Amino acid sequence: MADARVILQRRPEGQVGIADFAVVPVEIAPLAAGEALVAPARISLDPYLAIQVYGRPVRGVTLEPGEAMRSRMVGTVVESRDPSLAPGDMVRGVGPWQSRFAIPAAQLERLDTLRDRPELHLSALGTSGITAWVGLHRVARIAPGETLIVSGATGTIGSIVGQLGRRHGCDVIGIAGGAEKCAHATGALGFERCLDHRSESFGESLCGIEAQVHFENVGGALLDAVLPAITEHGRIALCGMVAHYDTSRAHSFRNLHLLLEKVIELRPYRVSEHAASHAEALRDLTAAVEAGELTCDHTFADGLDAAAAGFVSMLQGKALGKSIVRLDGREA
Ligand SMILES: NC(=O)c1ccc[n+]([C@@H]2O[C@H](COP(=O)([O-])OP(=O)(O)OC[C@H]3O[C@@H](n4cnc5c(N)ncnc54)[C@H](OP(=O)(O)O)[C@@H]3O)[C@@H](O)[C@H]2O)c1
Repeated sequence: MADARVILQRRPEGQVGIADFAVVPVEIAPLAAGEALVAPARISLDPYLAIQVYGRPVRGVTLEPGEAMRSRMVGTVVESRDPSLAPGDMVRGVGPWQSRFAIPAAQLERLDTLRDRPELHLSALGTSGITAWVGLHRVARIAPGETLIVSGATGTIGSIVGQLGRRHGCDVIGIAGGAEKCAHATGALGFERCLDHRSESFGESLCGIEAQVHFENVGGALLDAVLPAITEHGRIALCGMVAHYDTSRAHSFRNLHLLLEKVIELRPYRVSEHAASHAEALRDLTAAVEAGELTCDHTFADGLDAAAAGFVSMLQGKALGKSIVRLDGREA
């Protein structure tokens, strides 16, 4: 079987496009001692990758044209030269968007639960779920009875935040782009309300809302519009600013002064800096999934040839829930 990988072909001019990527053949060298050969089954498509695609580093890591796209994946060990792993083991780690790749076994985590739903290890039970949990409980310090606004409400993290907020006794108001996504937020996800930020009446729909907590995934005009709806001494968990990743589209804030006037706490955070809470978060998230109190939608791109289109579609806000490249063809 010929192996292949997805590379960044060129820096985007304007918005990220499918032609900025290419699928190319790759040779895999024989394994060195301590390495495992992994066949990814699911590859995570993440908004932050756009920052690297535009040429800016993420935590010191840059991506040059010609290099393979890399992100978190769940896969199966095909061959192992390390005693800790055996063929057939399901593992999670960071790797290239590639049909098979060699990696030191020490950089892989073996997964023993939910083998039939590998995508969950990249969504509700992966970094996205932990980011949602930490943002809500450690950063925003949400309390029962509070009103919580969450942007990107049908995105991976936003949908988990809203469901966890409901589970914690909060009134949850989602913000999403389009009537269909809003109906999903109030239907399947169980939010009290969902406001459509693409609708002309978006500004009006925020009138009268008094939220103690806002969970921000998007930034830009959306955050600007929400600021008046946050109460005095309210808190904002600043998780993501996906609207700013393409710096060719800048936004000037009109309502930033409200942070000072209402003494609103703006709390940016990185999930990696809350490692002490990860185990507790994962226990709670696993319990919520097993109790049927937490679900996650997944939008699949099937095969490496579809990976770039899936990534672009996610950046355009077209995906529902977690965007994933599916490589083993197995239906979830
Ligand atoms: N702080 C941390 O440690 C940490 C960790 C992981 C991820 N993050 C960040 O958290 C955010 C959410 O991640 P995610 O995995 O949930 O992403 P996601 O599943 O792609 O959802 C993001 C949502 O943002 C909206 N959106 C996308 N592109 C947009 C654009 N250009 N302008 C306006 N809205 C846009 C879309 O919803 P609508 O179209 O419905 O609005 C989409 O559903 C991202 O910014 C990500 O980088 C932060």
